[in-house]
Amino acid sequence: MTKSSTKKKDTSPADVSPASVDHLMSLQSHLLLEEAKHPEATGQFTWILSALSLSAKYIAARCRMARLEAVLGEVGNENVQGEKQQKLDVIANDTLLRALGTRHGVAIVASEEDDKPAILHTETAGERPYVVLFDPLDGSSNLDTGSAVGTIFSVLQHDRRAKDAEGSVLQHGTQQVAAGYILYGPATVFVLTTGNGVQMFVLDPSIGSFLLVDSDVRIPDGHKSYSVNEAYSASFPEGYRNYLAWAHNNGYSARYVGTMVADVHRVLLKGGVFMYPPTDKAPSGKLRLMYEANPMAMIIEQAGGKAYSGTIRTMEVEPEAIHQRTSVVLGTASEVDRVLSYLKD
Ligand code: AHG
Ligand code: MN
Ligand code: MN
Repeated sequence: MTKSSTKKKDTSPADVSPASVDHLMSLQSHLLLEEAKHPEATGQFTWILSALSLSAKYIAARCRMARLEAVLGEVGNENVQGEKQQKLDVIANDTLLRALGTRHGVAIVASEEDDKPAILHTETAGERPYVVLFDPLDGSSNLDTGSAVGTIFSVLQHDRRAKDAEGSVLQHGTQQVAAGYILYGPATVFVLTTGNGVQMFVLDPSIGSFLLVDSDVRIPDGHKSYSVNEAYSASFPEGYRNYLAWAHNNGYSARYVGTMVADVHRVLLKGGVFMYPPTDKAPSGKLRLMYEANPMAMIIEQAGGKAYSGTIRTMEVEPEAIHQRTSVVLGTASEVDRVLSYLKD
């Protein structure tokens, strides 16, 4: 070791910048550092993210143990969207509700699995500043095989002027104050944006902490890959089919898990495009604007990519119902532009 490298740097807490991942930085410490930059912050936002982090660890553990704890398979009823609920959908949903229910900053929660948004602590909801939306378990058709699944979340300011809970939830994606997802795969990965780039944390299960591995995730360019359920391509609008025909002739490869979190995570790290176009079965698209498309769009845009629903920027789509469906094209900016050029023809 050279003399200069042994020289002590001043590393008082205020000087430790999260821009460098050389530091050992947990999600919790990252949030506290961010909070310290805003003297007006009350800490309520940090507590909400801590509830999401706790839920993520709990859900990851339940997914890992699902076969052993005999919680695979269907509950036997359908959710509000007419989809068969899995036991783990219910467990993940309850976990998030229980964790967020104890956080003073949350006025309303809305879940893909529930009919209506829930107002927490009705008597004080008016004073609480945030609304949290989530898809508790994404990709649940992959659960039985032990493939990757995820959780997606979005945080909005509570609109106190709205006449009811649904009115407060129905905001444009551009209004999101934070969004993210957790991937339950070989590793549990927490990807977060609060509107200041994208940070990625990986759970170290031996210490129970999410550790920062990338403080500024940028979506790469030039990866010749698309992610779409091509089995439905005969019913895609012509523009999508023409793009796919072009990709087939230009050396592209396909990757599709069928879990949006896993597919988008791959696109975020490698580049390329993820699409869920309108189909005959789902003429508006299958994915949910509020729980899936908007949060993923914010992540992708904050990483330098683009996210569109048809020819409209996803985060500018007018929300009319909390379980509204939308089509999605997101990924590397130049590749999304290429798809859009086919949609506009
Ligand atoms: P969920 O499990 O939350 O209902 O979401 C499933 C979604 C999404 O994860 C994925 O991109 C898509 O459904 C897959 O749909 P197809 O099976 O139609 O391809
Ligand atoms: Mn989903
Ligand atoms: Mn789901």
